[in-house]
Amino acid sequence: MSVELTTQADCAVLTLNRPEALNALSSAMLRDIGEAFDEVAKAKARALIITGAGNKAFCAGADIKEFRNQAMLDSKARTELGQATFAKLDTLPIASIAVINGYAFGGGLELAMACTFRLAARHAKLGQPEIKLGTIPGYGGTQRLPRLVGEARALELILTGRTLDAAEAERIGLVSRIVDGDAIAAGINFAHQFTCYSLPILAFARGAVQRALDLPINEGLKLEADLSTLSFQTKDADEGAAAFEQKRKARFVDA
Ligand code: CAA
Repeated sequence: MSVELTTQADCAVLTLNRPEALNALSSAMLRDIGEAFDEVAKAKARALIITGAGNKAFCAGADIKEFRNQAMLDSKARTELGQATFAKLDTLPIASIAVINGYAFGGGLELAMACTFRLAARHAKLGQPEIKLGTIPGYGGTQRLPRLVGEARALELILTGRTLDAAEAERIGLVSRIVDGDAIAAGINFAHQFTCYSLPILAFARGAVQRALDLPINEGLKLEADLSTLSFQTKDADEGAAAFEQKRKARFVDA
């Protein structure tokens, strides 16, 4: 199997498992990833951690040997499969965290950018090198990179194809932080900062923020008002306020 899905400490952990090809994304692997996301959607996990097998690569991108000489319609189908697979992360009920434990190039960085959060190992190297292959990012890079780092920086990275180290990726906001030690443990530690809170409320917050850059401000504020109102109808909002008044820790029930 090109991916491995396990559960550790309340978190689903998806490991890209093709280390001999630096976890490059074949079409079969994209399908395995999509099926794993479907399983995660039905599971009881409170966050999803994604990382790469070994400590050399998170993922070196689309499988260059596979897409070479691909007919136009096959190429379009592969690109749409990559986009649709990564888009499933937005519809998951839980947040996802990419722990970039080495190279994250092309489709690998695009997978990381489709996650809610990105952490980078100190030795990580990131980039959108497609221009060097005579092509452009196809699994969401032209759309998600500018949303994360701004249009000018995204254009520079996509037009030059240059490689960023972890420190630069953190400085420009492409990753939230640099982590040391075991990648999965680092992802779980990060997740545990928020997995103690109510899952539906976390999902409302993610849903509102995810739309912030797509919606005109008046529509975004309306969405926020609707989701905020909805949050006050939950047992967990009652519990949160009661715990505050009673000076104790809230016991959320995800309802
Ligand atoms: N596709 C297929 N195989 C890949 C691969 C890829 N993207 N990246 C690495 N591999 C394979 C290599 O061919 C090699 O296999 P063999 O041993 O059979 O030759 C193995 O993985 C190890 O790779 P290297 O020997 O090259 O390892 P390295 O440490 O010397 O270099 C690297 C590492 C700098 C990441 C280099 O492998 C590299 O440049 N890879 C390609 C990165 C890239 O261009 N990614 C973008 C792909 S296009 C894309 O993703 C489009 C999109 O938007 C979806």
